[in-house]
Amino acid sequence: FHVDWDLETAEKAGYDHFMLKEIYEQPKAYRNTMMGRISDDGRSVVLKEIGMTAEQIRGIRKVHIVACGTAFHAGLVGKTIIEDLARIPVETDVASEYRYRSPIITPDTLVIVVSQSGETADTLAALREAKRNGARVLAITNVVGSSVAREADDVIITQAGPEIAVASTKAYTSQLIAFYLFGLYLAQTIGTRDTASVTEVLAAMNELPEQVERILDSAEVLKQIAESLAKHKNLFFIGRGVDFAVAQEGSLKLKEISYIHSEAYPAGELKHGTLALIEEGIPVISVITQEDLYEKTLSNIKEVKARGAHVLALVNAGNEEEVGKSVDELFSIPKTLPLLAPALSVVPLQLIAYYASLARGNDVDKPRNLAKSVTVE
Ligand code: G6P
Repeated sequence: FHVDWDLETAEKAGYDHFMLKEIYEQPKAYRNTMMGRISDDGRSVVLKEIGMTAEQIRGIRKVHIVACGTAFHAGLVGKTIIEDLARIPVETDVASEYRYRSPIITPDTLVIVVSQSGETADTLAALREAKRNGARVLAITNVVGSSVAREADDVIITQAGPEIAVASTKAYTSQLIAFYLFGLYLAQTIGTRDTASVTEVLAAMNELPEQVERILDSAEVLKQIAESLAKHKNLFFIGRGVDFAVAQEGSLKLKEISYIHSEAYPAGELKHGTLALIEEGIPVISVITQEDLYEKTLSNIKEVKARGAHVLALVNAGNEEEVGKSVDELFSIPKTLPLLAPALSVVPLQLIAYYASLARGNDVDKPRNLAKSVTVE
């Protein structure tokens, strides 16, 4: 029977693996997720799928974001996005913790569940718990008609298209786009951002697909970096603010498919323990895109460097020279607004994970012990 094999080859559309195909589909996924959700004049977000009235939106006192795995990491960025744009306090929880910790859910709580598949058992249970407690639930999911989509009050569908590889890539970045759109929607409704500010963010979002394409054009550099990382048993990711959220996703991606042990740390927390593990030659991947935290992270980079770490830094274009003095390798990220940086900085980390997995001869699309969708507890 060659049917399945042929079908799979056809579906990979010339790529060696689904994961690589899906990484390269991200510019399209960004465009599709934004499509029809920005006004023609580019000055506001239009979310016809949101049934909440302006009054209900103004009545939201807190937001809980609940998800598993990579979707949880999107929720960590989502927290910063909503707090920054709409000034509403946000907590982000792993669904399997949230549902059992008797969270304080009130009718003025908006619970946002994030799930690529819309079928993850713990996320669905958290959604039901939230509804039982009278909260309104918004789902961000990639699958129309999924359980999560059917049971939520409002749904934003990410237009990533089907994701086959177990390690999530384009679903994650599309979830970020959904958070940017929803955060702006809240901000324009509540009035925490004026039209000029919303317009500025939307204009910068429009640049993202082309900026991702530029990162993808440098895949060969990342492949070489990944091949040398693949020889290591342990490595660390560091960052501050949203860079730390991205570091956590980069670390998860690497673990899932390369089986290299890695940990993501808030850069400023290193000296409270993890620094003890830094020894000669250990790789440290540092995400440093936030200008207001730049000096602080740079000094943490110098700390690990002084202890012999081999440092790779993901930096904003323009900062290469200064950061270059303190690190071993650099990869530059096209310049965008600080809040939007995760939508770019995660892409090189996805490629590093992919190429490290490949270099180790692993089954990239189907890592051991993991499933694409966890529908049982
Ligand atoms: C599994 C997958 C992950 C995914 C997580 C949540 O663990 O292997 O890639 O992030 O489930 O899945 P969901 O469909 O809810 O986003």
